[in-house]
Amino acid sequence: MKKFQGKIAIITGGASGIGRETAVQLANEGCHVIVADINFDAAEKVAKGLSTDSIAFKLDVSSEEAWIDIMKCAEETFGGLDILVNSAGIGSACDFEDMPLSDWNAMLSVNLTGTFLGCQKAIKLMKKSGNPAAIANVSSLGGLVGGEDIAGYCASKGGVTLLTKSVALYCAGKGYDIRCNSIHPTYVDTEMLDPIAGAFSSRQAMLDGMASQVPLGRVAKPADIAGAILYLCSSTAAMVTGHQMVIDGGQLAGMTAQHSTK
Ligand SMILES: NC(=O)c1ccc[n+]([C@@H]2O[C@H](COP(=O)([O-])OP(=O)(O)OC[C@H]3O[C@@H](n4cnc5c(N)ncnc54)[C@H](O)[C@@H]3O)[C@@H](O)[C@H]2O)c1
Repeated sequence: MKKFQGKIAIITGGASGIGRETAVQLANEGCHVIVADINFDAAEKVAKGLSTDSIAFKLDVSSEEAWIDIMKCAEETFGGLDILVNSAGIGSACDFEDMPLSDWNAMLSVNLTGTFLGCQKAIKLMKKSGNPAAIANVSSLGGLVGGEDIAGYCASKGGVTLLTKSVALYCAGKGYDIRCNSIHPTYVDTEMLDPIAGAFSSRQAMLDGMASQVPLGRVAKPADIAGAILYLCSSTAAMVTGHQMVIDGGQLAGMTAQHSTK
């Protein structure tokens, strides 16, 4: 018996990076996936490649109407919803004093409001069946600590961290069997890093610089993050809710050796 046999999941940002890898891993464990993304063509390509009966859905996570529509789709197509993975996200970097209001609003709208809407609409559908359900919100290390040139991104992801804990407590308090946890990756080698790569001599030079900040000596792969998401959404994690899971190769663990010669 596969771990997620017959379960139904919505994955936002499912057309790329962490969301795409999570879709593949969940489907390989028997889950039906609604690959939800603003980029419908790419989402459809992912959905067609999955090993279960899965579909694509054009979703702008910042639109309440779109969330109402996707929940209808989950109910009509598959009969309900067991798992929501909020992975859609955007980021931009600049000097704080120069940050355009439009960038700030865009990050808040996609990263934080998108996650809020997803949790709110998913709970309404998940509670109908009464089956155990789980929400995984992809935050960031930037949802736990600040960043010199990514204030808007950190503010939006910090919001996701505490939204997650609040949703977890809300569901527990209402007696719903719905868990909610957040994931906090370090740098992950996905398309999200492409716009940054242009500022370096090569993409590899950028990744090497990032890896030098990570005690385990490398950036994360999408599979490192998807594995953690699957754990948090599985029955193995039945007692885990309101948790902030850090996947950072030791980056936040503390200081590396600076006080002695080796
Ligand atoms: N890559 C990293 O280094 C890293 C590190 C920490 C956290 N994260 C977070 O992980 C999540 C996934 O990032 P990724 O690295 O896979 O990025 P990615 O760019 O590969 O994928 C993000 C996906 O989100 C989709 N998307 C963007 N705006 C959307 C919207 N309004 N509605 C629906 N879909 C939308 C994009 O089309 C894309 O398919 C993001 O929330 C990101 O902030 C990424």
